Amino acid sequence: MASRDITFGTKEAPGLKETFDWMADRYLAQTELVSRGHYREWMDHVARLVMRFRPESVVDVGCGPGFLLSRLQRVLPGVTLLGVDYAPRMLAKVDASIPTELADLEEWAQHAGAHYDVILLTFVLRDQPDPSKALRALRQRLKPGGRVVVLETQTPAGWRQLGFDLYFHEWLPRWGQWALTKDWPSGGGMAPYSWLSHSHRAWMTAHPLPDAFYNNDYVDVKRHRPNTDVVMLWSARRP
Ligand SMILES: C[S@@+](CC[C@H](N)C(=O)[O-])C[C@H]1O[C@@H](n2cnc3c(N)ncnc32)[C@H](O)[C@@H]1O
Repeated sequence: MASRDITFGTKEAPGLKETFDWMADRYLAQTELVSRGHYREWMDHVARLVMRFRPESVVDVGCGPGFLLSRLQRVLPGVTLLGVDYAPRMLAKVDASIPTELADLEEWAQHAGAHYDVILLTFVLRDQPDPSKALRALRQRLKPGGRVVVLETQTPAGWRQLGFDLYFHEWLPRWGQWALTKDWPSGGGMAPYSWLSHSHRAWMTAHPLPDAFYNNDYVDVKRHRPNTDVVMLWSARRP
């Protein structure tokens, strides 16, 4: 396929790493709440997809406090797992039996030695300054035939869009600031739930995502949830 430049994602994210680090203690509880109880179901869907690929090794990049890694450890005993994240307090929450590495994802992709059957990016790709470049970097860490799996929010097509927009862009930033993170010390960046809305506006339905996979030499690009849903789930394979 002819290569063309693909630009999407949020270019500038001042203080984002520090914000995630600060969120570590409350991340899981608030994500459950903010997802209106859907977070576990979404993670279970990712886990089922990973199981279908019958991997020997899985790396969760931007693993946060490691909810998905613990799920995978239960359903895929014996599989080599690794969690990568640049926020130390997130990694401190990961179950001690699961190895972790403190690193920025692109640096990790360039310098890590091992190759993996599955690379997971759940609620991570959207926040990268250049998602296409991140996918290109991570491809180096896949074994031939290995898959990358991307879970993200999406603006749903159809009648759910209005409710989503009201919730995500009107209610959530206000409720977040007022009730969920009122003790947030700032530090130059946007308040956490304002950031969530802001970065989603640069992402929306991620229409460049399939091309970003193809342009970076992935094949078998598949969508696993309908475009009417509030999250998207994609997989792509390294030939
Ligand atoms: C929204 S949380 C998602 C956590 C987890 N994957 C989940 O689905 O619940 C994003 C995580 O990715 C990490 N992260 C974001 N950008 C990163 C990067 N460039 N390198 C490493 N970690 C990153 C953050 O520190 C945070 O823990």
